Amino acid sequence: MIWNQWYAVLPSTAIKSGKILAAKRMGLELAFFRNGKGNAACVEDKCSHRGAALSGGKVKGDCVMCPFHGLEFDNNGACRYVPSYGKSSVKDLSRYNVKRYIVREENSIIYLWYGDEDKVTDKLPFFHGFVDRSYVFSEVEDLWNSHYSRCIENQLDVVHVPIVHHNTIGRGNKTLINGPKVIFENGMLTTSANNEVDTGQKPKPADECVIKDTYLNFIFPNIWMNHISKKIKVIIYFAPVDEENTILYIRFYHRITGNGIADRAIAFAGKYANLIIERQDKRVVVTQKPKSSSLKGGEKLLTGDGPIIAYRRMREELKGLGNTGK
Ligand code: FES
Ligand SMILES: [Fe+2]
Repeated sequence: MIWNQWYAVLPSTAIKSGKILAAKRMGLELAFFRNGKGNAACVEDKCSHRGAALSGGKVKGDCVMCPFHGLEFDNNGACRYVPSYGKSSVKDLSRYNVKRYIVREENSIIYLWYGDEDKVTDKLPFFHGFVDRSYVFSEVEDLWNSHYSRCIENQLDVVHVPIVHHNTIGRGNKTLINGPKVIFENGMLTTSANNEVDTGQKPKPADECVIKDTYLNFIFPNIWMNHISKKIKVIIYFAPVDEENTILYIRFYHRITGNGIADRAIAFAGKYANLIIERQDKRVVVTQKPKSSSLKGGEKLLTGDGPIIAYRRMREELKGLGNTGK
């Protein structure tokens, strides 16, 4: 994991008011809930008293109440009540505080700050300017037994398309890989496939390729977009569960008809079409060894792996900026 980053970790809809959601992210056992105002909150899913899972408790006003002895913690993890000490207790309860994690909610996504609290930034990674309220989206999730770096690399991999997806999006036997061109600007990676049928020609180098109308974007640490057309986009955020598992949240965005009911039906079908494509990838990606990718992992890369190399370099650089992870 890269330290000091906002990770997209859950869809907003996963945290229901009045309920506590247990979820493992970045190897951390977490309890998500909404306080009385509906604001999302996250604390370590372990009571400071005697270690019970807070997610087994209940939401009470602005707090979560531990199911064991009833200690209550607010959205900052501060202990607000110890039943056995009574309501009139004036004791300082701060020794019972639990660790909280900073979360924000935007774009119908819950983001978690994985880093030092004094380094929190305001910029949540998203594709602002590419999708807005004129788009309808529908989302589906899929758990992969893979490190999130492998899942992301797969989405930037133009070489696998005619092989893995030979009967779907990679139809046409375009196995010869030109480039591809890779741009990394303003924190966003851009690339597009430029594949051709092999008729004996030499592949073109990246600098002779262009970014096509259908292209890919990626923003660190874990959000990707496929610009299929002006009206159709697919966004995936790759929520790291731990070092070996990732949940892909696949969103199909579009504005094909402009009619709300029809567009919602299309989005609903579109997400499953994308899930079928992703399942073709999953079958192979879960077998990759080692589980996590790295810049100097000893793999014998191909010229067409340019976007993957760019991703690895940038990941390494971000980790090197004191963001070594935990
Ligand atoms: S373990 Fe949570 S209140 Fe005792
Ligand atoms: Fe694929």
